[in-house]
Amino acid sequence: MDLLDRLRLDVPVAQAGMGGVAGGRLAAAVASAGGLGTIGLHPPEELRAAIRRVRDEAAGRAVVVNLLMPFLRRGHIEACLSEGVDAAVIAFGGDARLVRELRDAGVFVFMMVGTEDQARDAVAWGVDGLIAQGREAGGHLVGTVAALRFLPHAIELAQGRPVLLAGGVASSADTAAALAAGASGVVAGTRFLLTAESEAHDSYRQRVLSAERTIETTLFGLGWPARHRVIPNGATQRWCHPDGTVRRLPALINAGSAPLARLVPESSAGSVARMQRPSLPLFSPVAPLAGMPGSWVDRTALYAGESALRITDIISAKQAVAELAGR
Ligand SMILES: Cc1cc2nc3c(=O)[nH]c(=O)nc-3n(C[C@H](O)[C@H](O)[C@H](O)COP(=O)(O)O)c2cc1C
Repeated sequence: MDLLDRLRLDVPVAQAGMGGVAGGRLAAAVASAGGLGTIGLHPPEELRAAIRRVRDEAAGRAVVVNLLMPFLRRGHIEACLSEGVDAAVIAFGGDARLVRELRDAGVFVFMMVGTEDQARDAVAWGVDGLIAQGREAGGHLVGTVAALRFLPHAIELAQGRPVLLAGGVASSADTAAALAAGASGVVAGTRFLLTAESEAHDSYRQRVLSAERTIETTLFGLGWPARHRVIPNGATQRWCHPDGTVRRLPALINAGSAPLARLVPESSAGSVARMQRPSLPLFSPVAPLAGMPGSWVDRTALYAGESALRITDIISAKQAVAELAGR
């Protein structure tokens, strides 16, 4: 299958869905530049508006939505189906029924995987393509080893389906290495977080630009106690060991908090973050977005991947697509 034709792309470069960081503005800018722009999961009405924005601003390009399973509700799926999205990226869960429902509606379904078992499940469920995530990636992690190490296993298990590589892609050399290793394209998150069109708070982007290291932790796990990669901040300094592992109290609180993701409506995510303090071991997955107070950079998750250490500037999404594609 020619992925570029199927998804009406000029270049094999995708922008990762990144929750509130990746709205219609970013996805539309990436799609207009010929890459695959992905809208992060938003409350259903905002999702509909973002889908329409990409359709308007990037006419003729594919519209893609990230289905972040721990927070996915029926309303999100209905929004995707009734707005007629072209592709979906299922991540951090999933099942055969959802894949079938999307494919029956003509949606091209990717699933992000980080282990061979996850890749086997995705293929058994009938997905159209895989995204092989490496452990160096920013944000939440399914990746367990470096992306280029996992890629050959994912390609073998994909049985001819396209496989995109995610994790550590910040330059045309990274893209070239992934393609040479058999990937059909690349997915970049951190590079697009650091663009003018991302919805990240400016202080967050500045922290990422000046970061000296990233850590893998589970600290920001209230309601979603899964591994994630972040830049250290006031909260991690107080509650994480130097290697990122979480101290006893927040670890215990997070471990019992998974049902919260289903109970707390998305619209109240900001209110939960408002209660967060570096001194209080209650940290939700919310990231600091434009419009939130700048002081939240020390109490919320500064998601970023290892490639943050190589990125030196904020550029436009168009320029990021061109740089990653080597044009
Ligand atoms: C700020 C940020 C937020 C993210 N949020 C999500 C998300 O909501 N859903 C998802 O599937 N992946 C999310 N990811 C992970 C990306 O899908 C992707 O795997 C990762 O960014 C690739 O690694 P890179 O950051 O080195 O490019 C996020 C990544 C970042 C940097």
